[in-house]
Amino acid sequence: MDELAFRTIIEPFRIHSVEPIKMTTAAHRKAQLEAASYNLFQLHADEVLIDLLTDSGTGAMSRDQWAAIQHGDESYAGSPSYFVFRDAVRDLFDFEHVIPVHQGRAAERILFSVLGGPGKIVPNNTHFDTTRANVEATGAKAVDLVIPEGTDPASPHPFKGNMDLDALEALLSTQGESVPCVFVTITNNSGGGQPVSLANLQGVRDLCDRYGKLLFLDACRFAENAWFIREREAGQGDRDVVDIVRDIAALADGMTMSAKKDPMGNIGGWLALDDDALAQECRNLLILTEGFPTYGGLAGRDLEALAQGLKEVVQHDYLRYRIGSTAYLGEALEKIGIPVLSPIGGHAVYLDARALLPHLDPLEYPGQSLAVALYELGGVRSCEIGTVMFGRRPDGTESPAPMDLVRLAIPRRTYTQSHVDYVIEVCERLAARAHRLPGYRITHEPKALRHFTARFEPIR
Ligand code: F0G
Repeated sequence: MDELAFRTIIEPFRIHSVEPIKMTTAAHRKAQLEAASYNLFQLHADEVLIDLLTDSGTGAMSRDQWAAIQHGDESYAGSPSYFVFRDAVRDLFDFEHVIPVHQGRAAERILFSVLGGPGKIVPNNTHFDTTRANVEATGAKAVDLVIPEGTDPASPHPFKGNMDLDALEALLSTQGESVPCVFVTITNNSGGGQPVSLANLQGVRDLCDRYGKLLFLDACRFAENAWFIREREAGQGDRDVVDIVRDIAALADGMTMSAKKDPMGNIGGWLALDDDALAQECRNLLILTEGFPTYGGLAGRDLEALAQGLKEVVQHDYLRYRIGSTAYLGEALEKIGIPVLSPIGGHAVYLDARALLPHLDPLEYPGQSLAVALYELGGVRSCEIGTVMFGRRPDGTESPAPMDLVRLAIPRRTYTQSHVDYVIEVCERLAARAHRLPGYRITHEPKALRHFTARFEPIR
């Protein structure tokens, strides 16, 4: 069968159990927005029609994952479910120590508690918000060294998540003694869900070898990244994604992981690494707050569901649909003239709010304005990834983020093409009135991770 012969992408699954969506009106949603102080994280989720806030923990589990849950063994120590989970992780990422945690940021907190601290510098292509916050919480500095194309929304570079190897070398050669490890985020979420090439990872590995540094992956969307490698990198087109993933893993010394993304879990994560002494220190911290090392804050049933999810996410039919259906949304928006970050990312489409709302200064939060308007007009919840999320420095000053994006993140296996067609229609109608959208000001904010709880008001 030649799957390219047909234009329509069919979801490679049938629906087995459904969840109702509550239909609401724009007037109703306007009141919800006021009550939430224009912060979409403060909405009640049942007031959302199409929830594209995040692809994290929001995917639909498969029949086989629900069945695996029945195998969950809830022993405190040495649960068989741990070994099923560990072996599924190692089948792809062959690290000596596999330490489960309740979600990705717990792995970050544990690792940076050991490796971070005042005076330390952690480079990454682009830190995600929790990763940056966990580095900074230890007093260390988080630096983003993505290639210049990675912050240009219009650049067609096929691997916009790549690390700038010259910049990394400059850092390692001048301040190498302050760098405890190098991180690479696959795919680069804050930079638009953009992949990192195998060649670039090899380049990072070579620099880490030269300067004696550990290389860690923030690997939440590893399967999507591997699919892009298969599609776009010379010599990779005939390979099985599983083998590409194993090549990626072999280049690293360890990984932090949110299992709420590609492993198809509603909760979970892990820290995996080879170094025995470092693993021992991490396990000691794990026991303090997460739990015994064979469950790490998860139930045995969660570990079983993740083991099965890891088998499903690397299937080519799934990945072809996943990447193809995200591109379907992005390309439809491009066609009607809405500025989107291109190439289209793996898990999300990123609207370029700075380009769509040129009448607003970045410090009037064009991304926030666009995200609020998408909800009010069509009940679509999205996420600002811009100056609200990244504009506040640890010293309390504020400056524009490199880009002001609004992310439409696609939960895995959850929405159908008609849901996506509706989102396209909402965006089209909103674009026609974008020039009239107001800026916002923050009336209350916490010191870190302000986007989750800040309160806003429109500037009239
Ligand atoms: N790293 C990346 C690249 C992420 O995207 C996330 C989470 C994390 C780490 C932290 O993982 O949520 O399990 O603690 N990203 C979600 C998002 C929240 O919406 O993109 P976590």
